Amino acid sequence: MQPVVLRSPRLVLDQPCEADLDEITRFCQEPVMAHFMTLPVPYRREDAEYFVDTHVPNGWAADAEMTWAVRRHGDPALLGMIAHRRDLGDLGYWLGADHRGHGYMAEAVATVVDWLAETGTPVVHWECLVGNSASAAVARRTGFAYTGLGPSNVVFRDGATPPAWHGVRDANRPDAPSGDWPEESFR
Ligand SMILES: CC(C)(COP(=O)(O)OP(=O)(O)OC[C@H]1O[C@@H](n2cnc3c(N)ncnc32)[C@H](O)[C@@H]1OP(=O)(O)O)[C@@H](O)C(=O)NCCC(=O)NCCS
Repeated sequence: MQPVVLRSPRLVLDQPCEADLDEITRFCQEPVMAHFMTLPVPYRREDAEYFVDTHVPNGWAADAEMTWAVRRHGDPALLGMIAHRRDLGDLGYWLGADHRGHGYMAEAVATVVDWLAETGTPVVHWECLVGNSASAAVARRTGFAYTGLGPSNVVFRDGATPPAWHGVRDANRPDAPSGDWPEESFR
């Protein structure tokens, strides 16, 4: 599949590129990023290069993983990244620390789940490690229902599948109950 550009009121979701390498590398130094995601540690510029030059284009070409860079309209600065993994049927996302607290990720998630529904994928899964209330807040705001606590479907770099909060969003069931989100997921 060819990469697709998506737009929302404030954002453009397009492809990560060479000009993003320094920001990706800088943002991925933050310990919380390594803790909650499966990033290489230490995260080097070569890791960003592999991600941009190989991982992302291969994911689109194989229809295996669709990744978008998150930017504001008219501003090439990278805010973060969002991806849909076909095998897990889920969404993964991050924002650089400088760009949190503006609702950008919720807007990006809403845009991607709408596009997925329009293109034949109405059901999208989500998970985060227990305690990642920022990720849970984004999922809750964008219509994911909490489905429970269980091992993560994502296998971490040490082979572990730590306890995770799981959710699902079904575009065909907009009135589905939102589930019993854990107290700890409200911040
Ligand atoms: C998960 C992550 C992307 C969430 O970032 P975020 O900035 O909290 O999410 P959003 O961009 O949707 O912003 C939501 C915040 O902006 C606020 N906000 C400000 N202006 C807003 C607007 N116009 N519209 C909506 N929300 C707005 C919201 O109130 C909310 O803040 P609050 O939770 O304190 O109430 C971020 O914490 C992150 O990158 N974490 C590290 C990586 C990670 O854990 N990824 C997920 C792995 S599962």
